[in-house]
Amino acid sequence: MAANTIEHNRSRFNFEGVEAIWLFGYGSLIYKVDFPFLEKRPATIHGWARRFWQGSHDHRGTPEAPGRVVTLVEQPGVACKGMAYRVSPNVFEYLDVREKNGYLRFRTPMTFEDGSHAEGLVYIATEDNEAFLGHAPEPDIAAQIAGSAGPSGPNSEYLLRLADSLRQLDADCPHTFAIEACIRGSSVSG
Ligand code: SIN
Repeated sequence: MAANTIEHNRSRFNFEGVEAIWLFGYGSLIYKVDFPFLEKRPATIHGWARRFWQGSHDHRGTPEAPGRVVTLVEQPGVACKGMAYRVSPNVFEYLDVREKNGYLRFRTPMTFEDGSHAEGLVYIATEDNEAFLGHAPEPDIAAQIAGSAGPSGPNSEYLLRLADSLRQLDADCPHTFAIEACIRGSSVSG
């Protein structure tokens, strides 16, 4: 599948008659909220693990030197906490462009902190997209992130802002925190 998913996403859902829909964010959508929303609530989706396995050629890296950003990979028994936003469907005209480097919108059930549920959408970059990088040891991922930057800024800023946001959400994400520790450790030691 081509890395640019804009057209693919536009043909995926018919929003006719839909006034508002939940969007689940687990990466930059937690902390970079540059879109209008009607309501936001911390939420969890089950069976998915957050991983820095997606290449970023357009935001946090370049085509020659891609950075790494998060996607979700299926993992039974694992919970992924993030932030859900209730948005008007026209917000996806913007978000499909922002998330165009390999992410497709999927339907997902989500659970809010009070135990209630809703169905919504989540952007996932699956392993068949051209920008997918896949598994690597966390210190190697940290080294790639430390050395990458793109039009949206340094890749390390993405990682550090995400780690801070996850702590604020009281979300446990050993993968993100392990990479953060490598990056903070290397910046302390110079
Ligand atoms: C998300 O945040 O939900 C998708 C991945 C990203 O934009 O970082």
